[in-house]
Amino acid sequence: MIVAPSLLSADFGHLADSLQMIERSGAAWAHCDVMDGVFVPNISFGFPVISAVAKITSMPLDVHLMIVNPDRYVGMVRDCGAMMMNVHYEACTHLHRTVQSIHDAGMKAGVTLNPATPVALLQDIIEDLDMVLVMSVNPGFGGQSFIEHSVKKVAELKALITASGSKALIEVDGGINAQTGARVAAAGADVLVAGSYIFNAADPAGAIAALAAL
Ligand code: DX5
Ligand code: ZN
Repeated sequence: MIVAPSLLSADFGHLADSLQMIERSGAAWAHCDVMDGVFVPNISFGFPVISAVAKITSMPLDVHLMIVNPDRYVGMVRDCGAMMMNVHYEACTHLHRTVQSIHDAGMKAGVTLNPATPVALLQDIIEDLDMVLVMSVNPGFGGQSFIEHSVKKVAELKALITASGSKALIEVDGGINAQTGARVAAAGADVLVAGSYIFNAADPAGAIAALAAL
């Protein structure tokens, strides 16, 4: 299992220490949550912080943009050193064009679905995607409870990917711990994002190892 710890729950005063810890613990990617206070009711951090993170880690950066008009920022996300740029389905009027411009910029393209957005809406773009991020909470905050319906959604997405021959990975984000992680893993998830489960644990490295073993 690819584990992508969400830096949102890390201690922002000691980000370098957190990055060292997650890198040593076998996490594969660092998940960076950008919020604009418009698409979601919260503001987190932006491009200067991601650039700083990129300078002090060799882990690929998985950038999750919870912002309106993400297509305006493709160049800035690339310049930050992102490996993957995830945009929300609900924030993109011209999703096909946005995905193309992410690829033209040399990044992998991910499309994120809010809990109420059906998997079927990806039918005409699934073959162009490197990843689909299934939100298992409403985006905006760490530490929320996993929405049960997400397990069924991951299974539906897995079926769509298999039927279309797409190579897209399935990432799940929100309320992930060893129990919910095991359930979405069984349904077809390839990547698990976790914030509070890792950073609030007495043994964060052990929490990462538990998810990686799923
Ligand atoms: C939520 C973010 C998540 C968040 C997950 O809007 O996209 O990445 O940090 O936090 P936990 O794992 O605590 O639900
Ligand atoms: Zn996220």
